[in-house]
Amino acid sequence: MSLLKVENLSVHAGSKALVSNLSFTLEKGERLGLIGESGSGKSLTSLAITGLLPSGIIPTGSVHLAGQEIIGTPDRQLDRLRGTAAAIVFQEPLTALDPLMRVGRQIAEPLARRARRDGQSLDSHELTLNVNSLLTEVALGEHERVARSYPHELSGGQRQRVAIAMALACRPDLLIADEPTTALDVTTQAEILALLDRLVRDRNMALLFISHDLPVVANSVNKIIVLRQGEAVEAGAVEEVFTRPRHDYTRSLLTAARQFDAALEGQK
Ligand SMILES: Nc1ncnc2c1ncn2[C@@H]1O[C@H](COP(=O)(O)OP(=O)(O)O)[C@@H](O)[C@H]1O
Ligand SMILES: [Mg+2]
Repeated sequence: MSLLKVENLSVHAGSKALVSNLSFTLEKGERLGLIGESGSGKSLTSLAITGLLPSGIIPTGSVHLAGQEIIGTPDRQLDRLRGTAAAIVFQEPLTALDPLMRVGRQIAEPLARRARRDGQSLDSHELTLNVNSLLTEVALGEHERVARSYPHELSGGQRQRVAIAMALACRPDLLIADEPTTALDVTTQAEILALLDRLVRDRNMALLFISHDLPVVANSVNKIIVLRQGEAVEAGAVEEVFTRPRHDYTRSLLTAARQFDAALEGQK
């Protein structure tokens, strides 16, 4: 059984289709890139997969995640799956973080929740050890200082590392990264990309990597779906889409990215 099976997923706001008839599967450990320009329906797709669509936005079709149908299932039944089956890392780390809570406690909460679900309980010493080991895993040093910090006391890159640590705390089978580097400067982007790549492989998680930027995901995924105005216009193995794009829209995404790179080179 696939970890994630999406069949004819559509998402509507009133009569307006925002995502149309999207189908794909993701096996354990597989890495898929979902690419498209801003407004093409990428984030709504990730929210539909996790049952987190805002009210008034209606999904139809089927999303089967870790043996559970998501569409039409009441919220409280989905709580069990959130975090453990799939966790999302958002574009803006502050989305995931509570501004008024120290970072160490924010990482400890999902750790304790996951332990309870597994029928264990962690005392405060064990929780601290586990928080520190996650901080090490996301390459954040100075554990004590970081754990005692509030989100605003950290840099954007450090905050995204904390958000990634929180996602990992639940030990999800599927990590959804929704433009996880778009809000960061270029150097930090490269570091976070490398970190995500390492974690996904080390933990053998499946990855749904969402980006408007095809080259950003190319090294991190095996296959790609190109979304345009809510419709999949192209899908295939990453080398294939890169070297032989079939759709004009994919070609234009590639050309735009290459022109941007060339412009950056020109500035040096
Ligand atoms: N709550 C909402 N109500 C109505 N339309 C929405 C809502 N959220 C997003 N949309 C629209 O759905 C489309 C896809 O949005 P989104 O999935 O966020 O795009 P992406 O993540 O690819 O940039 C956009 O045209 C957006 O304006
Ligand atoms: Mg988005």
